[in-house]
Amino acid sequence: DKGTYPFYMLKEVDEQPNVMRKLTQTYLNGEGKPEIDDQLIKAMQAADRLYIVGAGTSYHAGLIGKRLFEKLTSMPTEVHVSSEFAYEQPLLSAKPFFIFLTQSGETADSREVLSNVNEAGYPSLTITNVENSTLSREANFTLLLHAGPEIAVASTKAYTAQIALEAILAKALGEDLGLDAAKAFDVRTQLALVANGMQAIVDEKDKLEGLSNEFLMDTNRAFYIGRGIDQAVSLEAALKLKEISYVQAEGFASGELKHGTIALIEKGTPVIGIITQAKTASLTRSNLQETIARGAKTMTIVRESLATDDDDLVLPDVDELLMPLLSVVPAQLLAYYTSLNKGLDVDKPRNLAKSVTVE
Ligand code: M6R
Repeated sequence: DKGTYPFYMLKEVDEQPNVMRKLTQTYLNGEGKPEIDDQLIKAMQAADRLYIVGAGTSYHAGLIGKRLFEKLTSMPTEVHVSSEFAYEQPLLSAKPFFIFLTQSGETADSREVLSNVNEAGYPSLTITNVENSTLSREANFTLLLHAGPEIAVASTKAYTAQIALEAILAKALGEDLGLDAAKAFDVRTQLALVANGMQAIVDEKDKLEGLSNEFLMDTNRAFYIGRGIDQAVSLEAALKLKEISYVQAEGFASGELKHGTIALIEKGTPVIGIITQAKTASLTRSNLQETIARGAKTMTIVRESLATDDDDLVLPDVDELLMPLLSVVPAQLLAYYTSLNKGLDVDKPRNLAKSVTVE
């Protein structure tokens, strides 16, 4: 039931702070230590490489997971689009462990990969929002997202729940391996900060609607740019905009623009920079300047400690690895308002189904 909300998507965006709290309560004990099935931890530790597989938004959550697993567990991690992996399997390591990310647990492309993985006898985990879903039943282990039903076709709270659960799992694994990076990562405190930060962003709806009006209502093209983990979020930000507002949006590595794609920038083309990582902030800022010089109209989404008075949206500071949980929220709302004010069916965009059960 969407209650007083005009669309499920808005309700689901608003639920994200509570989903963060629910995951904390479910998977962390009173001292903030992860409580994850020991057999799962052992199975993952026995592997020499993690393979994350997913489609669409779930694939994008995997791109963040790669950073979390590599930083906190030192395990090499690859991320793959399921429809590609199914028919062009990369050379695998000697002891692979597979992680399937899927909101619905029913995506045909991901099921195809899991059936190959099972045939080969490799161990697997499904991270899903739907208990007893096919991908959950067919994998060796399951972790549930506890995000509550996600009805809108555009995935929002499942993306942030997947990232938060990957963070908890990476913390559990890394701590068990005795790694300093994992010990120092206070996931409980960080997720509490994330929940509050998300709340502050969803409380800025009027501002986001205004930015949508100013930047996105009169264009059929837009760019999100960033570096590293911000580039990964820019892919998800662009997908949200494409999917429900039909603006042709591209998420791009900001340093790569000048190698060709910058030719698409014209007077007034919106370019939105995501800047949350200290190491690359000034580089992305100069890449934004390069687009301004070609006529772009730029907007910035920046974490507080890197922000100036000229930035458009300032995100509360949390651990750099968890900044995607905050930087994606304005992008979800920008897509929402653009779709809404174009009079489109936000929850049921054309040509799409909530769960894609054909390959
Ligand atoms: O249920 P899944 O997470 O396996 O679904 C994967 C994609 O179909 C899904 O994330 C899709 O990209 C969303 N509509 C994006 O908002």
